[in-house]
Amino acid sequence: MTKSLVLYHSQEYGNTAAMAEAVAGGLREAGFEVDSFNTNDGRFDVRRFPQYDCVAFGSPDYYSYIAGGLKTFMDDHYIADVRDGLEGLRGKPYVLFYSHGGGGRVKEAMERIFRRIGTLTGEPLGCRGKPDKQVLQACEALGKQLAKSLP
Ligand SMILES: Cc1cc2nc3c(=O)[nH]c(=O)nc-3n(C[C@H](O)[C@H](O)[C@H](O)COP(=O)(O)O)c2cc1C
Repeated sequence: MTKSLVLYHSQEYGNTAAMAEAVAGGLREAGFEVDSFNTNDGRFDVRRFPQYDCVAFGSPDYYSYIAGGLKTFMDDHYIADVRDGLEGLRGKPYVLFYSHGGGGRVKEAMERIFRRIGTLTGEPLGCRGKPDKQVLQACEALGKQLAKSLP
């Protein structure tokens, strides 16, 4: 079974978590196995990362930047890749989603930082505040789009 990871940070209202759940739903509907992890619950072990065929990253906008938990993951990823030479960290298809309070400039930061991971599929999906039904459907569609991008 194809393995996917939904790695996100959600802390304030659960807005990003709701989006993550919908993206995971889309991946599951496409027949993918999904692991979800909220970096607010702890540090994601980068040594687990190579097993995944594709990834969805989600962050709230924190000062026009990604949340600290996800930044820590990307710091770990860089060091594991560049210093330790861990295989299987790069070359993955991925999608991006984000939650914001009216600014949303985290989008540009995400596009720049996650480039190391592999190939961005589709457009980053943003939502202001609590995601409504339409946004959740778009999140689900994003998960399906990610699944479809795999050979
Ligand atoms: C520390 C902090 C910084 C924030 N900075 C921004 C910001 O620069 N721009 C913005 O649009 N929203 C900002 N917000 C609002 C959050 O991005 C927004 O409430 C988001 O939906 C929270 O997601 P969550 O419920 O998944 O934690 C900030 C929130 C916090 C807690």
